[in-house]
Amino acid sequence: MGHPDFSKKSRSLIKKHLTENIYEKLRHLSTLSGFTIDQAIRSGLKNPDSSIGIYAGDEDSYKKFNPVLDPIILDYHKNTNHRVGSDFKPLALPDPDPAGQYIRSTRIRLARNLKGYSFPCNLSLNERQKVEDKIINALDCLPGDLKGAYASFEQAEATHLYQLKKQNLLFKKGDRFQEAAGFNLDFPRHRGVFHSLDKQFLVWINEEDHLRIISMEKSSNFESVFNRLGRAIDALSELLDFAHDSNHGFLTSCPTNIGTTMRAGVHIRLEKLEQKKELLHKLAKQHNLQIRGTGGEKTQVKKAVFDISNRQRLGITESRIIKTLHKGITAMIHAEKSL
Ligand code: ADP
Ligand code: ARG
Repeated sequence: MGHPDFSKKSRSLIKKHLTENIYEKLRHLSTLSGFTIDQAIRSGLKNPDSSIGIYAGDEDSYKKFNPVLDPIILDYHKNTNHRVGSDFKPLALPDPDPAGQYIRSTRIRLARNLKGYSFPCNLSLNERQKVEDKIINALDCLPGDLKGAYASFEQAEATHLYQLKKQNLLFKKGDRFQEAAGFNLDFPRHRGVFHSLDKQFLVWINEEDHLRIISMEKSSNFESVFNRLGRAIDALSELLDFAHDSNHGFLTSCPTNIGTTMRAGVHIRLEKLEQKKELLHKLAKQHNLQIRGTGGEKTQVKKAVFDISNRQRLGITESRIIKTLHKGITAMIHAEKSL
């Protein structure tokens, strides 16, 4: 096969950085789990509107496909190194919206993959089951308010899943980007959602990564959302070994998530700033924040409820991310009030 034929319309980072020379170097390689560059770029080839267009099939992808992944990582993160340690020390942060006028909810997620297993776009049914079992066993050992129950997409009662869906706590079958990469193989087998009794702590199993670890509240209490997540990741790190390397930090399916893997954000209603999009985007840029739609990535903003979260996750600590978000959201609320 010759150099991949990316659509003329494509502006993806994979098209930009997978030069003929680099492709020639990589095309005959396969990773320790047998994953190839042609598999890694399927999504970007099939979807000309991809922004990145490549997914890792395992930890070794970050080594073997380094000649193309590193320029992509540098282009996206403006940095290739994650030489900072984790910092989940409990924080004291004032509530940015104590009267509850703007912020609907606060959510922080981390992504993790189990060391030694293929990543979800490259998992056999048997391996996917092993990953699920290992994670459920670890979740069973969580203490106190983190204790909960697992709702398997295959086995849970339909009414229970329906309730979780209505509360927006489930994940959906992968979108066309994930579909083309292989994430939906055998769906919904060996996928599910673990949730604590109060539903403020969740773990999605076998979505884009083996684990998406989520702390969320219908409040603007950044401190309790962050501190709960810190307790959860400390406990889980004692029970599970995660894919990690000294350059990139924690390794994820999508190179946009490596490093801390953290996305900390709020659902915030900004009716006035919605009418002044330029100012909103200027503030987001100034504070290094990203704006998503109400239903998540690649969705529309509904009723002026924006999803605003950190842009940087590599080369920064987790506590710095939440402080950055806090500062930016405080500035946005101030701007909204003064309009
Ligand atoms: P991810 O956060 O895993 O990168 P998405 O952007 O698709 O992926 O968001 C996942 C889900 O989380 C979506 O259903 C989205 O609406 C929901 N979500 C994101 N941020 C918040 C928030 N602050 N409060 C409530 N739900 C949220
Ligand atoms: N692969 C998609 C693209 O290139 C999504 C990239 C970032 N999002 C994600 N969920 N990993 O546009």
